Amino acid sequence: MSLLTELDSIQEEAVAALNGVATEADLEQFRLAYLGKKGKVTAASAGMRDVPKEDKPLVGQKLNEVRTAISSAIDERQSALTAERDAQAVKGIDVTLPGRRPLTGSLHPLTQVLDQAVNTLRRMGFALAEGPEIETEWHCFDALNTPPDHPARNETDTFYFENGKLLRTHTSTVQIRTMETQAPPVRIIAPGSAFRRDEIDATHLTVFNQLEGLYVDENVTLADLKGTLEYFLRCVFGDDTEVRFRPHFFPFTEPSFEVDMKLHATGKDAKWIEIAGCGMVDPNVFKAVSQTRGDAAYDPEKVTGFAFGMGLDRLAMLMYGLPDLRLLIENDTRFLKQFA
Ligand code: PHE
Repeated sequence: MSLLTELDSIQEEAVAALNGVATEADLEQFRLAYLGKKGKVTAASAGMRDVPKEDKPLVGQKLNEVRTAISSAIDERQSALTAERDAQAVKGIDVTLPGRRPLTGSLHPLTQVLDQAVNTLRRMGFALAEGPEIETEWHCFDALNTPPDHPARNETDTFYFENGKLLRTHTSTVQIRTMETQAPPVRIIAPGSAFRRDEIDATHLTVFNQLEGLYVDENVTLADLKGTLEYFLRCVFGDDTEVRFRPHFFPFTEPSFEVDMKLHATGKDAKWIEIAGCGMVDPNVFKAVSQTRGDAAYDPEKVTGFAFGMGLDRLAMLMYGLPDLRLLIENDTRFLKQFA
């Protein structure tokens, strides 16, 4: 049999046998059996040696054709087997079902309100300041002109430690810490947690968040205070924000006010809620920090200032029309994901 006929029959045999190859492993065996080093095509090509010189081009060409034909037949079979395997893998899977969305996180609504408040106040020239949550009575009360018999200092209102320290009941502590270490002018804001032994309800939490502000310089007036807070609230809540200042009492400011805003909560009648306390820094506070500092930088005859402390949780209530503060601490993702 001439080499040409032998090659023809190898090709025929291979193509016919290929349909019976059922697995990818068998297909690899098959490839080796024909095209491998010891395969039939390779073996046949050894016969080239004995082909007369003038026939070599023709036989050589044939050899290539056969090799290519078998090789592409194997490739075709390979694709068919792969397709079969894929089809098997997704059998019974309804590819028209909508996919499951991966859960993505987002900022907590309180963080969003905090960011917005801080950004607005920083644009107005306030710098960030901070202080510890575990405080001394001096920073929380004495220096803030709060006498020992003041009800806020009572065990029933405040969390005390055995060593006499306490969980700060307000962020006004940062006013003292700032003035003790920085000379005027100071214009700071201090966001942070505050702690009170309050009964938890729709508008009270035992751990809540405040944003303290303090501005001390020469000639700071009540008009500056009102203008600052009103401008801030309009920036954050819009130009039609309803704000009112009610005369109030705080030991560390004189005069003092509470600031209310109209809350339009989902499913409830609109009502005023208190969002901040504020006032002009009491001269006794300046005297207290002067005592620590041992200088006259905060001489009450020279400087004046205003301070405010806003309830951040309440700002979030207003921003999102929340009927209940507790929503902010329950970590219910059905609630939280509305603010994503
Ligand atoms: N510290 C006060 C409170 O927690 C708020 C306040 C801050 C009032 C600054 C006046 C000035 O209620």
